[in-house]
Amino acid sequence: MEIKRVGVVGRGFMGAGIAQVCAQSGYEVVVVGRRKQSLNKGIATIEYYLSRDVEKGRISQQDKDSTLARIKESITQEDLNDRDLVIESVPEDMELKKKVFAELDRICPGHTILCSNTSCLSVTELARVTSRPDRVSGTHFLSPVPRSKLLEIVRADTTSENTLATVKEFGRSLGKEILVAKDTPGFIFNYLLIALTGAAMRLLENGVASAEDIDKSMTLGLGHPIGPLALADFNGLDVGYMVANAMYERSKDPRFAPSAILKEMLDSGRLGRKTGEGFYKYKEEK
Ligand SMILES: NC(=O)c1ccc[n+]([C@@H]2O[C@H](COP(=O)([O-])OP(=O)(O)OC[C@H]3O[C@@H](n4cnc5c(N)ncnc54)[C@H](O)[C@@H]3O)[C@@H](O)[C@H]2O)c1
Repeated sequence: MEIKRVGVVGRGFMGAGIAQVCAQSGYEVVVVGRRKQSLNKGIATIEYYLSRDVEKGRISQQDKDSTLARIKESITQEDLNDRDLVIESVPEDMELKKKVFAELDRICPGHTILCSNTSCLSVTELARVTSRPDRVSGTHFLSPVPRSKLLEIVRADTTSENTLATVKEFGRSLGKEILVAKDTPGFIFNYLLIALTGAAMRLLENGVASAEDIDKSMTLGLGHPIGPLALADFNGLDVGYMVANAMYERSKDPRFAPSAILKEMLDSGRLGRKTGEGFYKYKEEK
């Protein structure tokens, strides 16, 4: 099946990035947000990132203009009634995502493939609220979406071979390397990452080493571009907590249980880079 028109639900951090890469790859994109007051906010974010790319000579002004011309914003999912593929990227909350999926199933034509950008929730459970569970899959983009080389595709228990093949081709057309995972807690990426960051936090909590030394063991020891604690700060400790907690609830595997130090930091409002302090302190950033 040929994908031409793409929809994105949720114009937050990830949704805006997903809309951007789809439009940059030539797709006509409608991105749906929640509030009228913030209409154009998604486009403004995308415009900001594209302008930086123009300044740095990564793309031309013409690329920027044509990308923006392919994106439309809306506050109603009804505007997704002619899409070939829709990617849901609302917050990591199963009940909210189920509501969005049921609504998309009602609005979208029969051929539309519905995808979720969930970090760790069951895509099969989402597929089952629709009348097209064979045309549902996970598309787990990594942040920052325009820079990341990877797209993790999650094959729900119900995803058909045809859907998987179409979503893989779509992902490749965005310039991404494709990973395919079964629908298990955290799939590949977060299964590894949450276990690693959880272990790093427990080392710190038990006073085994400083945050700097824990991070250096991975950056200098294994060549990781960033240490697990600095990465947790970058992604937001509230986001990390939500993902770890959802994975723990889904699997009951103690490796994913949010650590005491993480809970403490959330309670004291230290959420990482975005609040100026997490495992490290940050100077005020623009
Ligand atoms: N942040 C990351 O690094 C990251 C990485 C990979 C995957 N994810 C996943 O991507 C999804 C979105 O995460 P995010 O970081 O972009 O969150 P975010 O909070 O930045 O964005 C979510 C957006 O969805 C909007 N929204 C809520 N309900 C809505 C509805 N009914 N209709 C339309 N919009 C609605 C919110 O207003 C918000 O703008 C989550 O499932 C998350 O687990 C996040």
